Amino acid sequence: MGEIKRIGILTSGGDCAGLNAVIRAVVHRATEGFGWEVVGIHNGTAGLLSRPVEAETLDLSLFTGTLLRMAGTILGSTNRGDPFDYPLPDGSRVDRSDEMIEGFRQLGLDALIGIGGDGSLAILRRLAQQGGIKLVGIPKTIDNDVGLTEVSIGYATALWVATEALDHLQPTAASHSRVMVLEVMGRDAGHIALSAGISGGADVILIPEIPYRIEALAKKFEELKKRGRNFALVVVAEAVRTESGDTVTQRGAGSGSRYGGIGHYIADRITEVTGAETRVTVLGHLQRGGMPTPRDRLMASIFGVRAVDMIAEGRFDRMVAWSSRQAIDVPIADAIASYQAVDPAGPLVHTARGLGICLGDD
Ligand code: F6P
Repeated sequence: MGEIKRIGILTSGGDCAGLNAVIRAVVHRATEGFGWEVVGIHNGTAGLLSRPVEAETLDLSLFTGTLLRMAGTILGSTNRGDPFDYPLPDGSRVDRSDEMIEGFRQLGLDALIGIGGDGSLAILRRLAQQGGIKLVGIPKTIDNDVGLTEVSIGYATALWVATEALDHLQPTAASHSRVMVLEVMGRDAGHIALSAGISGGADVILIPEIPYRIEALAKKFEELKKRGRNFALVVVAEAVRTESGDTVTQRGAGSGSRYGGIGHYIADRITEVTGAETRVTVLGHLQRGGMPTPRDRLMASIFGVRAVDMIAEGRFDRMVAWSSRQAIDVPIADAIASYQAVDPAGPLVHTARGLGICLGDD
């Protein structure tokens, strides 16, 4: 194995809180622990397409105490432009993977740390295989759906933001005798909805993993009324479908279609069936920002240090993971293959049911 002197780092996919804390940990460990140089590649894999490649040397002078506490990523990121199926302005698609690999070569890097969710890690792995790049992965996503790790960076902060939203909605719901519907992100997994719903005292939680009937919600509201409750809190994950099975999507400027809007559908149906007054909050990208929670900063620090150690140990094509209070590493391919949605028979669903929360199916 060649000697390591200079490593690259990039953040890919949707940003989240805690990414700067990972970058900070990597730079500390690599420069102080091993005397390596660290190069930050800009805008995820997109930076590798520019000539000269968009990148900068990262050193400890950057980390004055602010970045640990700051959401976003100083390197920039992208969740568009699969290098193997890259969209051109005329609508056609081309394979630009060789250009990206050439960009990586131009930086003279001995290894790469890629911070991404399952989609980004799959792309990075394919690039690494094709270009012989020594890759170590770090899982990050507010969706918390990366397999083989109990923790992904960004989830804890998103969960905090969604729970706090319920804290803010409850008093106004009670003051106006309303049903408040909170739509949260999570892509195809209901982790944020389920955990925030439990933590924030929701009465109903709808997740894509459990089919629902509006009548079940109506029954829950009736029970609440009988107990003297004049309001209800409903959390809906963005990938929940309409009763006829359609996904609800929105078109964002400059990007393809993405989830968004199911909260309005659910609120309208609640009003139709129960006559209740409803209001909808779509939490959206607020969940990706905010000051990273201590948990996200801690895990970012653990993962960043461990990823550098993995390079020193020659443990490539692997992802850092958290399991039973230990930082371990697993094959990236296995992590991608074990996509982690909510387990309808798992402990959190059991907890929600134990609390009397309606999941729409009873
Ligand atoms: O994967 C993270 C995530 O925030 C999802 O929860 C959400 O569906 C999506 O990204 C939004 O993507 P964009 O940043 O393109 O709007």
